[in-house]
Amino acid sequence: MSSSPLPLSTWALNVSPSPTLAVDAKAKALQAAGDDVCGFAAGEPDFDTPQHIKDACIAALQGGKTKYAPTPGIEPLRVAVAERYMADYGLKVLPSQVVVSPGGKFSCYLGVLATCSPGDEVIVPAPFWVSYPEMVKLAGAVPKLVLADDRTGFKLTPAQLEAAITPKTKLVILNSPSNPTGAIYTRAELAALVDIAVKHNLYILADEMYEHLVYDGAHATCIAALSKEAEARTIIVAGFSKTYAMTGWRIGTLVAPPPIAKAVSELQSQMSSNVTTFAQYGALAALKEKEKTQAALKEMLVAFDRRRKFLHAELNKIPGITCLLAEGAFYLFPNISSFGLKDVDFCSRLLDTGKVAAVPGSAFGAEGYLRLSYATSDEIIKKGVERLARFCASLKK
Ligand SMILES: Cc1ncc(COP(=O)(O)O)c(C=O)c1O
Repeated sequence: MSSSPLPLSTWALNVSPSPTLAVDAKAKALQAAGDDVCGFAAGEPDFDTPQHIKDACIAALQGGKTKYAPTPGIEPLRVAVAERYMADYGLKVLPSQVVVSPGGKFSCYLGVLATCSPGDEVIVPAPFWVSYPEMVKLAGAVPKLVLADDRTGFKLTPAQLEAAITPKTKLVILNSPSNPTGAIYTRAELAALVDIAVKHNLYILADEMYEHLVYDGAHATCIAALSKEAEARTIIVAGFSKTYAMTGWRIGTLVAPPPIAKAVSELQSQMSSNVTTFAQYGALAALKEKEKTQAALKEMLVAFDRRRKFLHAELNKIPGITCLLAEGAFYLFPNISSFGLKDVDFCSRLLDTGKVAAVPGSAFGAEGYLRLSYATSDEIIKKGVERLARFCASLKK
């Protein structure tokens, strides 16, 4: 008896795997096979988690914090997150408005699921973090991609936002500082976008994952803290992964108006239960032992800033490349459109012949760019950018 293969679901067939993880995995496989590849693809700090955070987690594990925890997070951590929004932004948050999830990625997904129904439209400014359109599709909603290229500093303008809104629009996703561009919206720029969201009664998903990774005296703005109207419609996502070099811990935070926070917690109760209980005690130490945490963060920021300036200067010396100096996160997003190659081909040849791993801009909805992460060592950056320069020179011949 012959049977045809059982079909997979719409969700499984329509989801695109993360291209950033794919490039990083390919680079790591080449490295494991003995190839000397300079990796600019990974979106994670090359630092280890600060010791006091690890110690608190180990103590919790040894102390028996090994059972299920409350779905939205252990109470002291929710309290500490609420307190830090008051301290950082003057935003009054109740612990019941905080949901701790297994990573900021999951927090974003739950935020979308809690607000969007099938057929709703979600405005996603491009260049976007690769997961947003996929999350929107997994909720049955429709991503509306709006390109904001280097001519506007990779920032969506109020006119662009307004033009993309239809009666079906439910949510707009704003990410500042941005992955992949490092761009930071000013307070005034965000206030102008919020005005439009208020006018059209949209939810805002404010992905503030990189809020503490800022340079040149720049400040990240907490969108919910802009006004009462902003607060009433904004879901803030943040986390521990990037700021405290805790990517493998899988802890993200979501802060939202009470009905949304409750819905997010209920969704989480059916999807993942809770974040690993003892890991939450490590996150708690990151917020409570402020001096040690700040010292560790400062050390990372000094290194990131040095690398950012170096990489930016070297990229702009390469004929054919132009690159804005981003003020946040740990990415630069150079324009390589002058080479006349599709960015996917550029990256594939760069990896195969130049031995440099970079992610094509098209993975982020912006053809003609590269995303380079400078969360890697000074040596690799120096060697990698020299290789990139040689590769670009070979293309010009
Ligand atoms: C913009 C942005 N948001 C959210 C996340 C999710 O972070 P995590 O799930 O590792 O906490 C990332 C990670 O790459 C990111 O770049």
